[in-house]
Amino acid sequence: MSLKKGTGSMELGECTRNPGYQDVEGGGSAAETINADPGEKHDSTALKLDQDFAAEEYTQIKPYAGMPKEVLLQYSSQARYRVPREILFWLTVACTLVLVALTITVIALSPRCLQWWQSSPVYQVYPRSFKDTNGDGVGDLKGIQEQLDHFLYLNIKSVWISPFYRSPMKDFGYDVEDFRAIDPLFGTMQDFEELLAEMHNKGLKLIMDFIPNHTSDRHRWFNLSRTRDPHYKDYYVWTDCVMYLNLQMDDLELKKVSVFGNSSWTYDDVRGQCYLHQFLKEQPDLNFRNPNVYKEMTDIIHFWLEKGVDGFRMDAVKHMLEATHLRDEPQVDPNKPESVKTEFDLHHDYTYTQLGLHDLLRSWRAVLDVYSREPGKYRFMVMESYDYQEVEKTMMYYGTPLVRESDFPFNFYLLYLPQNTSGLWVKDLVHLWMANMPKGKWPNWVVGNHDKPRIASSAGQTYIRVINMLLLTLPGTPTTYYGEEIGMENINVTDRQIQDPAGKYNASASRDPERSPMQWSGDMNAGFNIKTNITWLPVHPDYRSVNVEVQKKDEGSVLAQYRFLNTLRQSELPLHRGWFCYVHADASVFSYLRELDGLDRAFLIVLNFGKESATTDLSSVRELPDQLKVLMSTNQINNGKVLQKSRILTEAGEGLVIRYSTHTWFNPNHPEQCYVSEKACYLSAMDILYKC
Ligand code: GLC
Repeated sequence: MSLKKGTGSMELGECTRNPGYQDVEGGGSAAETINADPGEKHDSTALKLDQDFAAEEYTQIKPYAGMPKEVLLQYSSQARYRVPREILFWLTVACTLVLVALTITVIALSPRCLQWWQSSPVYQVYPRSFKDTNGDGVGDLKGIQEQLDHFLYLNIKSVWISPFYRSPMKDFGYDVEDFRAIDPLFGTMQDFEELLAEMHNKGLKLIMDFIPNHTSDRHRWFNLSRTRDPHYKDYYVWTDCVMYLNLQMDDLELKKVSVFGNSSWTYDDVRGQCYLHQFLKEQPDLNFRNPNVYKEMTDIIHFWLEKGVDGFRMDAVKHMLEATHLRDEPQVDPNKPESVKTEFDLHHDYTYTQLGLHDLLRSWRAVLDVYSREPGKYRFMVMESYDYQEVEKTMMYYGTPLVRESDFPFNFYLLYLPQNTSGLWVKDLVHLWMANMPKGKWPNWVVGNHDKPRIASSAGQTYIRVINMLLLTLPGTPTTYYGEEIGMENINVTDRQIQDPAGKYNASASRDPERSPMQWSGDMNAGFNIKTNITWLPVHPDYRSVNVEVQKKDEGSVLAQYRFLNTLRQSELPLHRGWFCYVHADASVFSYLRELDGLDRAFLIVLNFGKESATTDLSSVRELPDQLKVLMSTNQINNGKVLQKSRILTEAGEGLVIRYSTHTWFNPNHPEQCYVSEKACYLSAMDILYKC
């Protein structure tokens, strides 16, 4: 490589220009070090002049690719390169810190995202009645799989399937013979696995029924218990009862009465003792005082969680523990021993909600929590407990601020709605839950299930739509029993047709009427079984007009309205996580607001549960604009109407969803009329929610 000094530039072999630089250490220049002949001697003054000259000249020259490292280093220490570099460095550090701080702030200020069981209604499938694919007249798992698109159509994500374990079907699956097997009537384990996989593919969640209180009397454990097998002898609740056996049945019934109205003790010849059953005699109660029983049931929970189920509906939990002394339960009216006919004639102080029950359930919650850690795999738990007037007992299933239990216990109070269709009554039922629910918990609403008459029948057809509107606009999770989305009604079942064992004890208690086959279409058997002419219960005679296929084509149908409201509920922040505020209740109308602080879009809901049309005057609600436009009415012709807030007209059974704009929110001025599970505010400038 040759080095020539010319007019302020150097040539470095193939390179054209070599900008000089100063050696910071004061030694020879890098150029010199690189290019000079190691043997050549330099005059130091000449070299210094050379350096000054080069330094001055080279400041005019820009660095270029291929420049030697040492030269570059020389450049990089010049102030004009060093200072911007340092500025950039500290800017990057500052930006990173700001970003980290921002992220932490956003995370800290963001309200929790809603879980899957909060954002979608829970849809209950009664598998015997949903869809029969093999033509035996009873629905099956393959049938549920065939109809999964129905849930997608409705915008429903959570599906609870009533029991499909192996069972002698005395209580249609609530009498379990093997908790780890599928009953052949419903299919095989492979069918189950395929169903679950397909549900997950479609973004659906499967909630199973879990029945801890009892097994079938055909369960292996019971047979071993009867024969006093040392390990199993205390798996069930046994007592000596020979002293009662000579008495009349009525006397025995005094001791304890089952939910189905028979005595809850049955004598077993094999063991020579009576066993407790709070339901049918074919459903002996397990003894949860025995740690082995607890362990067996916990293992079963693990078994299904391992398979991937998304949650459990815990059946009849209040019955799980009994007082160890097994004393007779006090009569409600001790002066009339003959009046003990139903479970309501006794105080169940020794069999319901015993001390220790919540410890059991909370330990199962902890099991579910272990399986919930994987992102997107939250395992849900809902309790079934009818506590009637004792709402505070139901609320215990929410757990405490320190120990979690279920996500919610089912709220059955709206099942009383048909007793008195009036706005005030409905408000009272809603308020019963809202006022008693522990702070920060999530409400839920049930208007039907496989144990209760369909609300469309008990309340009357007039109210089908307004009840669905109530369900889908209240805060919290709605539960929809199959068929409610199309307004299915009870069937009439003659005494000879009765299938339900509870109905065999007492025809008026039969649950068959609400379990009729799902009405899919106007085809044979309403499309429930298109192979043979058998259905385990009769199809409702109205199936030609009330079915999914017909209603899909009709914009004003119950189905179309259900779908619209559910989609609205999920897309509108005020509806799924906003404030819920009462604004009015009278003999006809129940009205409330849904709003979210900071969001200028809010909803007014006006529901007429009365027997006549009503004009509601909401002019005293200052936060409402004077004119209100109906977004949706259950009476289609009123969609889009503009109403004065002083004159909101509704027909009996009509419901209105009104969307309006606001900058003055109702809740700050009326905190005693408003509820929210977890407060959140909307920041329109950034289109985000934050804790406030
Ligand atoms: C629950 C079920 C009901 C069943 C009972 C006994 O209440 O919902 O159908 O008969 O438990 O398991």
